[in-house]
Amino acid sequence: MKFFVDTADIKEIKELNDLGLLDGVTTNPSLILKSGGKIAEVTKQICDIVEGPVSAEVTATEYSEMMKEAKVLAKIADNVCIKVPLTFDGLKACKAIRSEGRMVNVTLCFSANQALLAAKAGASFISPFIGRIDDIGIDGMELISEIRTIYDNYDFKTEILAASIRTVNHVKQAALIGADVVTVPPATLKALVKHPLTDKGLEQFLADWAKTGQKIG
Ligand code: E4P
Repeated sequence: MKFFVDTADIKEIKELNDLGLLDGVTTNPSLILKSGGKIAEVTKQICDIVEGPVSAEVTATEYSEMMKEAKVLAKIADNVCIKVPLTFDGLKACKAIRSEGRMVNVTLCFSANQALLAAKAGASFISPFIGRIDDIGIDGMELISEIRTIYDNYDFKTEILAASIRTVNHVKQAALIGADVVTVPPATLKALVKHPLTDKGLEQFLADWAKTGQKIG
């Protein structure tokens, strides 16, 4: 399973990339707003840090305008993955951008049929938004299961990128179902390592080791 971080915060991206655990980054207009920077500059900075796909989202809603924006974003770096919304214009843009050999992430997916369309359009990634589905009282993870089954039925190559991840449990469930990628906010990604028994066990080992008076090396 690939780990992407869902942020445009350069400091956080650097820190997580240094751990060697990062396979890519996703951003969106809200995250760019939060970063306080300009999309081209922030995306370039991220691409200079991370080798894997860095999703940068178009903001136009009409096909030809999306294509113009996609061209601008694609010039930033080779690893920019163009993010388009799950609309017919977005799907048309997906097909066209893919035919030019560029990665595309189709975002704002809330149904299995939408995911089917994205796969038909040749998307590199489909982003079902788990947390936002949970927010309206429906089990978001069910959607990941449905998409997994559909993609496997037809051997679609589109990777399932579980998005809008809010908890460490979301990450575990997405992994159990077989999502190809999770994009996780930095705090949730860092929380994955935490377990009280690990802390307790380490404390005990260090205390016992100190009593031996030994040193390794
Ligand atoms: C994914 O690409 C989106 O940027 C993100 O996961 C949305 O998450 P949110 O619902 O927490 O805003």
